[in-house]
Amino acid sequence: MQHAKIFFVIASVKFLMILSIHNYTQMSKTCKLRTVARKTVMEFEGVEDFIVPFVNYTKRFMVAPDKKLISCTLRKSMSQLAENIMCLLYDEQQYFANSQSLNDTWKDERKCEHDRSYLNPSETLLNDTDTVRFAFIRDPFQRFISFYLDKCVREQKCYNCGNNMTCVLKNFYWGLKKVQRRWDGREQPEYVEIHAAPLSWNCDFYKDLSKWQLIPIGSDKTERSSAITQTEKILRKQRVNETLVDMVVDGMKDGDTDHSTYKSAHRLEAERQIREDPYIREMLHKIYYFDYVVFPFNRDSLDLKFQDTSCTIPLP
Ligand SMILES: *[C@@H]1O[C@H](CO)[C@@H](O)[C@H](O)[C@H]1NC(C)=O
Ligand SMILES: *[C@@H]1O[C@H](CO)[C@@H](O)[C@H](O)[C@H]1NC(C)=O
Ligand SMILES: *[C@@H]1O[C@H](CO)[C@@H](O)[C@H](O)[C@H]1NC(C)=O
Ligand SMILES: *[C@@H]1O[C@H](CO)[C@@H](O)[C@H](O)[C@H]1NC(C)=O
Ligand SMILES: *[C@@H]1O[C@H](CO)[C@@H](O)[C@H](O)[C@H]1NC(C)=O
Repeated sequence: MQHAKIFFVIASVKFLMILSIHNYTQMSKTCKLRTVARKTVMEFEGVEDFIVPFVNYTKRFMVAPDKKLISCTLRKSMSQLAENIMCLLYDEQQYFANSQSLNDTWKDERKCEHDRSYLNPSETLLNDTDTVRFAFIRDPFQRFISFYLDKCVREQKCYNCGNNMTCVLKNFYWGLKKVQRRWDGREQPEYVEIHAAPLSWNCDFYKDLSKWQLIPIGSDKTERSSAITQTEKILRKQRVNETLVDMVVDGMKDGDTDHSTYKSAHRLEAERQIREDPYIREMLHKIYYFDYVVFPFNRDSLDLKFQDTSCTIPLP
């Protein structure tokens, strides 16, 4: 079971056109697993419309070889801070020499990013049983709000949709459908797709998700302090120098939150839409439901029929 590959029947376009939006509301409450051609698929009414998990889409690793640490950027999931932390752990001398800080953004030069050994985990490291892989993960709906406020509202870079969330989600959904049908890694990824794709499409999770330590993060203090404790534990286990551990802990206490948009009018409106607008909720469920199945998130913000936690799939 554990080694079973996950496979989802990807419906043809024709079939999709026949399935109407209304089927969605009649979806049965419980799901079933079935084996098709030695692959495990989840079955429930309307599953063909959902974006599948574990597409080999995008990855950006950050490696600290001498600490035997591998991390991976998940956009809109504390990614700036994760990059700064890993850059510090990769080579502290270089980091200090360049006056880098845990508050740096993508606009600041990070020297580590010029090094292949920072960007690509070696096969030896991947094989080493002492290697720890860790990534910060964030509730999919919250992550989408954060993405939308930054890239659509602030940068206005979402398919000429402006602030129209309905328009963004419609285009985004069909963009993801296109990628899951056919993606060879050679085309230039779309801006929205690459930033907001399901978490399970990142980091080679399709290969080895069960090897990863996943650290849920949020914007509020309680969620943050649990993430800090888990990170601290990992760094101690890998025998990272106490001075650096303290720096990381302090950085995580005040770094990379959504402070700038926290409780802004745009955020309140986006949160309302995500709670109340039926079309927006439908699209979000279709796009991110499997992230809630694959990762250990609380499913309370999902529609009742999708909150059933007995619906799980074997992890790669
Ligand atoms: C990073 O920003 C936080 C919040 O603005 C500030 O308290 C902290 O001193 C900054 N840290 C560094 C290393 O600049
Ligand atoms: C890593 O493991 C794979 C599969 O077990 C093996 O084929 C490969 O030679 C190993 N590579 C190194 C560098 O140890
Ligand atoms: C938002 O986009 C949708 C879908 O593209 C469109 O039908 C709707 O009219 C737009 N709403 C506004 C207020 O422009
Ligand atoms: C995953 O995609 C990359 C290109 O982005 C490709 O090099 C690699 O072979 C793919 N892996 C599998 C198992 O198809
Ligand atoms: C820990 O790292 C700091 C900063 O690079 C350094 O000054 C200190 O000597 C190191 N401590 C140990 C015990 O290696």
